[in-house]
Amino acid sequence: MTVSLCTPEDLPELLGSAAALFAEDGGRRDPFMDTGWPARDGAAYYSALIGDPRCLCLLAGGGHLIGRLRSPDPLRPAAVTAVLESMRVGPAHRRSGAGTALVRAFLAWAAENGANEVTVQAYAANEGALAFYRAQGFEPFELTLRHRNGWLSTVDSSH
Ligand SMILES: CC(C)(COP(=O)(O)OP(=O)(O)OC[C@H]1O[C@@H](n2cnc3c(N)ncnc32)[C@H](O)[C@@H]1OP(=O)(O)O)[C@@H](O)C(=O)NCCC(=O)NCCS
Repeated sequence: MTVSLCTPEDLPELLGSAAALFAEDGGRRDPFMDTGWPARDGAAYYSALIGDPRCLCLLAGGGHLIGRLRSPDPLRPAAVTAVLESMRVGPAHRRSGAGTALVRAFLAWAAENGANEVTVQAYAANEGALAFYRAQGFEPFELTLRHRNGWLSTVDSSH
């Protein structure tokens, strides 16, 4: 499985994969997700990322992976965190090891850059991604809890 570093010439391919991820994942699972963002602001965002030494941008299997070294957190001064910001494999290439190859390249990059922690976020409803990340060795650490629809009607506005 070939994993390649994104170059500025790869921007259209990266943008296409990022837009497809928005449509397939966030756009279906988060009612507040702005699925028009990649077409509107993606070119500026991803082209800055390709040239940023604190970011990793990879292509493989008709998809992509973006990694980023997080800024130091004064509350967790010993942590050097590399975040797997986004990833996707093209539907025709899934379950043939492309995702694993992308994550392995990300982990190697994180280690080379001094990270002692790697994190990723996924929607609780994205069972395929959660199973995939578990297969890569990730385990749940923090959870975001969200109140069900209708919580506004339970608020006592007399206070
Ligand atoms: C999640 C994703 C990146 C996985 O990529 P992939 O190339 O299919 O993954 P791999 O082939 O390397 O899978 C490795 C192992 O992970 C697990 N796995 C991967 N996809 C899985 C799925 N849908 N359901 C259950 N387990 C899965 C399996 O253990 C698999 O090994 P196996 O095929 O021998 O059983 C891909 O399915 C995808 O792009 N999904 C849509 C976008 C998405 O959800 N991205 C993540 C957003 S947080």
